[in-house]
Amino acid sequence: MLSPPDDRAPIRSAPAMTTPSTDGGGPDARQYDAIGARYVGAVADSASNAGYERPATIALLGDVAGRHVLDVGCGPGLLSAWLVERGAIVTAFDASVVMADLAKKAVSDRARIVVADLSKPLPFAADRHFNLVVASLVLHYVEDWTPVFGEFRRVLAPGGAVVFSTHHPAMDWVHAPEDYFAVKPVTETWFEGAGAIEVTFWRRPLHAMTEAISSAGFLIERLVEPQPVPELADRDPVAYEQMRTKPRFLFFRLRATL
Ligand SMILES: C[S@@+](CC[C@H](N)C(=O)[O-])C[C@H]1O[C@@H](n2cnc3c(N)ncnc32)[C@H](O)[C@@H]1O
Repeated sequence: MLSPPDDRAPIRSAPAMTTPSTDGGGPDARQYDAIGARYVGAVADSASNAGYERPATIALLGDVAGRHVLDVGCGPGLLSAWLVERGAIVTAFDASVVMADLAKKAVSDRARIVVADLSKPLPFAADRHFNLVVASLVLHYVEDWTPVFGEFRRVLAPGGAVVFSTHHPAMDWVHAPEDYFAVKPVTETWFEGAGAIEVTFWRRPLHAMTEAISSAGFLIERLVEPQPVPELADRDPVAYEQMRTKPRFLFFRLRATL
């Protein structure tokens, strides 16, 4: 989502968002190609990413030094770079060729970056290889989470964990209120003027998330509705107050059952 993020009015200045539509088809896995480097500018220091999403994800990771980490939907590689700087051995992938190229620039030869679609099998990832799978703001682009969590389970080493963030169902319900229980695509318009592009994601109810998680053999270790970082109160008081009082993203840490 936009997660560009400062995505949902009124806290978002640019990119802007128009009224969501739920009439279209599902997302194209490569839709971020059209966003390109603008995504880095939108999220590197944004209130909802730098002041909320990344700190909340990082808080769930634990010690990553020496751990094999799969960064799913890595985008321009901000989290991959954070991971390698702390000693993780990182493989990252994204369906967007443009995002994967940006990630390669962010990490140079310190991580393996692959172009791959999360909704399909991940042949580049060996069985039981990874200690940690992290999927930051990407799962809402995939309709069916069951095979996705099946692949996460396959590639995780014993004792491994999954950490992911996704849209909070209550946030999506406010923006697409006709049916809380529907799993359906929602299209938003990001950025203003001639550079506007449409971005589509899947909205889903909470139980669709938890059913996909447990049917793939995972237990929910943590389910977090975080607060923004305190420093944001001075830097961007409007965004801070918005995220302090309204649901935005939901964060999970999962552990595989035996
Ligand atoms: C909101 S961005 C998040 C990027 C990064 N994880 C971060 O937090 O900065 C979503 C990313 O998911 C990628 N993506 C969307 N659908 C995907 C799919 N089916 N398979 C792999 N990546 C996908 C997009 O190309 C984009 O880079």
